[in-house]
Amino acid sequence: MNIAIEAHELRKRFISYERTGFLSKRKIVIEALRGVSFGIKWGEIYGLLGPNGAGKTTTVKILTTLLIPDDGYAIINGYDVVKEAKAVRKIIGLVLYPDKGFYSRLSGYENLVYFGRLYGLDKSTAELRARELMDVVGLKEAMNRPYEEYSLGMRARLAIARALIHDPPVLFLDEPTIGLDPISAREVRELVRKLRREGKAILFTSHNLWEVEEVCDRIGIINNGLMIIEGSPKDIKDMLGLRYTVEVEVQINGRIEVLREETVNPADAIRKLISEAEARGKVGKIRINEPSLEEAFIRVIKSEK
Ligand SMILES: Nc1ncnc2c1ncn2[C@@H]1O[C@H](COP(=O)(O)OP(=O)(O)OP(=O)(O)O)[C@@H](O)[C@H]1O
Ligand SMILES: [Mg+2]
Repeated sequence: MNIAIEAHELRKRFISYERTGFLSKRKIVIEALRGVSFGIKWGEIYGLLGPNGAGKTTTVKILTTLLIPDDGYAIINGYDVVKEAKAVRKIIGLVLYPDKGFYSRLSGYENLVYFGRLYGLDKSTAELRARELMDVVGLKEAMNRPYEEYSLGMRARLAIARALIHDPPVLFLDEPTIGLDPISAREVRELVRKLRREGKAILFTSHNLWEVEEVCDRIGIINNGLMIIEGSPKDIKDMLGLRYTVEVEVQINGRIEVLREETVNPADAIRKLISEAEARGKVGKIRINEPSLEEAFIRVIKSEK
């Protein structure tokens, strides 16, 4: 079967209370998910994007059996996340933001061994895996220090190591690079790409759209609990008709002029500008500025409002 993760028309509402005065409150209903569907293939990194409160973490929690949907269903490697939650838990790894659940007095290494044992690894396998993973995420030096002393970035790395302890084929990474310095964030992206090469299916969320564009094969943008647009970063930019800026420098009598065109078809524009430049002088530098995913994101979300 080619599809690793399937979400079908997921709905989730939360009942909450809003304060209306010093002693009074009013019941409110939050429609966190209003029918979200998508699929992720093996060997694919799928980016789930959306503004704060869009429903990303809620979706991740449903797919990882932590929340039960009110309606719709989801399948991971053929298992239903509600009816076969136990089987699902065995084959998934999860980094959840905001992160909880580590034992503060235990060292990072001891935490990993503990979670490995929970996943049914025997003691020596758990210890071996924990040691390997502390190295993979760059925490080898700090492996025997208590978790409570770890910095934000060290905690983020440990969370990734925990998600990998049982070598799951499916990974959910909800803001895995938050709080990481640029070098560590790049290491995480490299690790994620390596895991994709192993054929794993990976759901990735991040508010860093440059990072999403670099790492994700396909993305889905959700807003107010609904999927707004889906496709590769390039597909999405094309669907929105975002324009490339093409610039060709031309030297005319010792001074430089820049010929510029905004276009959806940069190849044609370059040919045209180069021949125009050749007719007027000596062709200099050529630049193409691609529209960014950030531009696409902002346009999609603004048009919704
Ligand atoms: N336990 C809860 N009780 C009440 N409302 C909740 C609960 N969990 C989430 N919500 C609400 O559901 C909506 C979706 O929240 P969710 O955490 O899924 O957003 P998100 O896309 O992950 O946002 P962010 O980018 O800020 O992490 C929000 O309006 C949020 O307030
Ligand atoms: Mg979230």
